[in-house]
Amino acid sequence: MAVSLAPTPASAMVSAASLLERYQAVRQQTARLCQPLLPEDTVVQPMIDVSPPKWHLAHTTWFFETMLLREYQPDYSVFHPDYAYLFNSYYNSLGSRVNRADRGTLSRPALADVYRYRAYVDEHMQRLLGRAAELPESFATVCELGLQHEQQHQELLVTDIKYILSTSPLTPAYLPAPTTPPATQPAPPAAWLTVPGGVYRIGYEGDGFCFDNEQAPHETYVADFELQNRLVTNGEFLQFVEAGGYHDFRYWLGEGWDLVQREHWQAPLYWMQKEGTWFRFTHHGLQPVNMAAPVTHISFYEADAYANWAGLRLPTEQEWEIAARRFNPDTSEGTFVESELYDPQPLAPDADPTQCHQLLGDCWEWTYSAYHAYPGYERAAGPLGEYNGKFMINQLVLRGGSCATPESHIRPTYRNFFHADKRWQFTGIRLAR
Ligand code: AVJ
Ligand code: FE
Repeated sequence: MAVSLAPTPASAMVSAASLLERYQAVRQQTARLCQPLLPEDTVVQPMIDVSPPKWHLAHTTWFFETMLLREYQPDYSVFHPDYAYLFNSYYNSLGSRVNRADRGTLSRPALADVYRYRAYVDEHMQRLLGRAAELPESFATVCELGLQHEQQHQELLVTDIKYILSTSPLTPAYLPAPTTPPATQPAPPAAWLTVPGGVYRIGYEGDGFCFDNEQAPHETYVADFELQNRLVTNGEFLQFVEAGGYHDFRYWLGEGWDLVQREHWQAPLYWMQKEGTWFRFTHHGLQPVNMAAPVTHISFYEADAYANWAGLRLPTEQEWEIAARRFNPDTSEGTFVESELYDPQPLAPDADPTQCHQLLGDCWEWTYSAYHAYPGYERAAGPLGEYNGKFMINQLVLRGGSCATPESHIRPTYRNFFHADKRWQFTGIRLAR
């Protein structure tokens, strides 16, 4: 024998095996989230921001087919030639596609065909993952991005399913309510945590996965500030509602005030009053509002109006991240999708007042920071350059993840982003001053 190939390093073999395991776990979880739905539930699109669950199931599969199988498996033939048109979300570099607003017109392909598509792509992906050690390093990198992408869509599935079921006149429950009743003891009073001003580093610096928008890490200056150690509760937000907050222009940004009047907003999304009692639509059907739980499903405009009414303000994303790093939150305290509670949970009455709670999980926290590129941000060449970079205009940054986020998906540097009027995600309020 003339040459012997260098053995594959053990670390590459281990990480290839764990990537395959993660691939299987993430793909199964998406299907599991759709299990309680009827096929009919998976087709409708009650508003433009909501995608039909059938579309999510196919689009996440299309991502692996397009970014990995077609790139790294030379003899790969696509499952169906029309699917690139149907399930491309927004990638101009990958050609034309169904308009976002028309995703609900896709009565075909059948849900069963979409599951066949998933099985076909999974079979090919698993074969490719089996020889990942022979492939260029970029394969594992893009595969990881595909899994993180699918986890983002798992969160969207949870929130889109809620919206879809809420607009059905029958208001069906996604799942039966848990048999243990929710804790309703009042939340402990919010405590202020002080952070001294100065120059701090923010942005992702580890060697795990991060999205491109978390880089480059850089220094930033903040003045002294204080942050509340928990999220604003439903009980606190109800005081704003009852004080006429939705009827007083003085608290609102102009655009927000116009929207409140146009849409007749009186309370957070999903709230309704019956015979003097407030209820809200949840994944478990219509439930009384738990006053101790964090308020959620509010727009940036409502978060900002609440803060103004309280004489306080929302934190910037820099303040949020500096505080999050300082108080080193533990994901074990937060509520994530794995809990299957599908609602932010009240803080325990005996929670340590010197610690910062609910930073990760429960609710995405609106910041008063525009979603812009960090200094040193680089947009990748090719379709993946369209992933985050082109949305860096007219949106606000949200931090910390929610009860719909997979626990392994979130970190203190994570930057989510939505327009100021959006409230169908699990969005909440943390106050600063
Ligand atoms: C980061 C949640 C705003 O919803 O478009 C999904 C996530 N990116 N597919 C979005 C995403 C590509 C993204 N958000
Ligand atoms: Fe996507």
